[in-house]
Amino acid sequence: MIVMATNNGDVGIRQAVAALKEGKTAVDAIEIGIREVEVHRPDRSVGLHGYPNILGYPQLDALIMDGRTRDVGAVGAVTGYDHPISIARCVMEKLIHVFLVADGAERFASEMGFEKSTYVDPEMPEIYAKHVREQLGIDDPEEIQHTKELWKLSHLAVDPQKAGGTTNFIAQDGKGDICVGVSTSGWGWKYPGRLGDSPVISAGGFADNRYGAAACTGTGELAIRTGAARNVVTYMKMGMSLEEATAEGLRDMNELDSQRVGGVQIISLDASGAHMAGTTSDRKGSHVFMTADMDEPEFVDGISVPYEGS
Ligand code: GLY
Repeated sequence: MIVMATNNGDVGIRQAVAALKEGKTAVDAIEIGIREVEVHRPDRSVGLHGYPNILGYPQLDALIMDGRTRDVGAVGAVTGYDHPISIARCVMEKLIHVFLVADGAERFASEMGFEKSTYVDPEMPEIYAKHVREQLGIDDPEEIQHTKELWKLSHLAVDPQKAGGTTNFIAQDGKGDICVGVSTSGWGWKYPGRLGDSPVISAGGFADNRYGAAACTGTGELAIRTGAARNVVTYMKMGMSLEEATAEGLRDMNELDSQRVGGVQIISLDASGAHMAGTTSDRKGSHVFMTADMDEPEFVDGISVPYEGS
């Protein structure tokens, strides 16, 4: 039994491991762990307190995948709900579809009995006004609501890697079943409707009991372009070790140098429960893990497979 996570994952990892110890499934553990991070208000990359889109409101993305069945549920660009991971789980368990976005996802959440959040971030109006003033050179935040060329400002969005973004969880339960989950508010100040890798199945997360699982944080565009999480699991299927597969997944992204911005961290776990992290930057990155016989989670450095282009 093990849970591994990134980026404030330590906030929810104890609860996830406790769930496994009570005999709950890897899917339960993922939802329980990520729900904690989704309401951990100091984290500006996950939940309704995450950095908003360029119009000033957060749009949340999440994904959950059950490695036992390869069932999956994902939601993107959801506004007004505290727990996109739970909506994603309902998509996985109740719907024939696997991916809902925006008003469709919100409608489904309401039909499933999720309450609209009453959370109002007390600091966000000032953070938004400051960003608009300092980065976009616009004094009145209202002005931006009416601009006809918003796309010209989208390059001023904050690289999610720098914003410290997104949480990934991977769990393996007592039966050996593996589940992966991802939740994020995405790239800070993104264009409205932008989806990163987090809700995109095979890019932000992928799990297959037979081989293992992987999940990504950082610049989602890179992970989408290579199908990063799925790649790592496929490389394990082809016989690579966990470390070789993770490094190869990072190299795939390093080969993308057109319009390149930012970088990606991958966390990965194989079917035996071995686990690791790696980044495309020269920082090693890290992950946190906890097994059923540990009293406290432990942080471990990852590997670095840096981008060498210009
Ligand atoms: N990896 C998070 C995002 O690109 O939104």
